[in-house]
Amino acid sequence: MSTLPKILVTSAAGKTGLPVTLQLLERGFPVRAFVREGDARSMALEKAGAEIYIGDQYCLRDMREAMTGIRRAYQCAPTAPNGLHFNAVFTAAVVEARVEHVVTLGQWLSSADHPSFFTREVYLSDILIRVPAGLSVTSVNPGWFADNYLMVLEMAAHLGIFAMPLGDGRIKKNAPPSNADIASVAVAALCDPEKHAGKAYRPTGPELSSPDDVAQAMGRALGRKVRYVDISEAMMTKALRAFPPSNYSEAAVSQLAIYAEEYRRGSFAVNAPTGDVELVGGRSPESFESVVKQAVEKRPDLRTNLLRQAGGLAAFAKVLLTPSLNLKKVETVRDHVLIKAPRFCQETTDWMATHSSHSLAARPDLTSELNVSA
Ligand SMILES: NC(=O)c1ccc[n+]([C@@H]2O[C@H](COP(=O)([O-])OP(=O)(O)OC[C@H]3O[C@@H](n4cnc5c(N)ncnc54)[C@H](OP(=O)(O)O)[C@@H]3O)[C@@H](O)[C@H]2O)c1
Repeated sequence: MSTLPKILVTSAAGKTGLPVTLQLLERGFPVRAFVREGDARSMALEKAGAEIYIGDQYCLRDMREAMTGIRRAYQCAPTAPNGLHFNAVFTAAVVEARVEHVVTLGQWLSSADHPSFFTREVYLSDILIRVPAGLSVTSVNPGWFADNYLMVLEMAAHLGIFAMPLGDGRIKKNAPPSNADIASVAVAALCDPEKHAGKAYRPTGPELSSPDDVAQAMGRALGRKVRYVDISEAMMTKALRAFPPSNYSEAAVSQLAIYAEEYRRGSFAVNAPTGDVELVGGRSPESFESVVKQAVEKRPDLRTNLLRQAGGLAAFAKVLLTPSLNLKKVETVRDHVLIKAPRFCQETTDWMATHSSHSLAARPDLTSELNVSA
């Protein structure tokens, strides 16, 4: 039996929770994986050695039970509305169980007055989890995941188009981190709380890419020419309504539109790439091309043929015929908490101060490992 402390991973079947669980198990830590239901993902986690807890992450009773005997935990709110509720439930259970260290998945954009209420909730949650006395916390704040581009891989495979509302295709605006690389930073902090307590990290991929670069990487992985098309926000909402990803509500779509605006403004490129995956996660960050190649290898349905191209055209027609979402109406009907004077990241001095110099000066431990003077 392991003498290492058992770690609770929330959202364990999700994009980052799954690799966090697997990487912790590889390092010999016992892991309790919190999942919504038993399925192929939870079976894979169990086979790898995780103890599976099936429950509702928004339910305090379940979270209390999942937290029993836990000393360290990975806090990962699902990409869904009610993030603050999830984080309040998590924080209450952490206090009651006297957990010693939490690694929390935040956001690159996290700021107090952000136009996205999802992001403001992340900001508040980051404060909330730091309130309990005796608890140490590490924040992992990634930007736009490499995984987000994979949502439109089918259209790239069958129609040769990479369509997203990301603005000018030539400008390098994001260094997208892979799920496994984000996980590596979280895992380092879960394994060694003393070294990482109180720190905030921003994992990125190895280099900045433009939307054209992303399209070309997709093309190389798919073995065909792929062209970037800058679409309007309205078109993006049509596509997400016509083919909703399983976890995307209308509220989530409305927030994605705000993140696309931040993307066009270049916020994900501010002092990116960082060295955090290498310095903290201890591995070379994966390129987007490597991420997309792995995704393509797992999906035989992306091998194109005439039938699938016809299917792609039919899907495109369905997108065109689907009404767009009135995002302002969604905000009102869904009763989003709105603030009077929201500000995008680069309009905020606090955000710029924490992102301006990659905060290396505040991190002498990492600076010495990098052998640079900050
Ligand atoms: N995507 C980005 O570009 C980006 C960028 C920066 C930060 N983030 C942050 O990333 C976080 C999301 O992390 P992620 O992408 O690793 O997670 P994720 O893929 O959204 O995974 C969430 C998991 O939680 C599960 N779940 C949902 N509701 C549940 C419930 N009631 N009870 C139990 N389980 C439930 C889901 O189950 P099912 O799979 O069964 O639905 C899913 O496996 C968000 O907080 C977001 O702010 C994302």
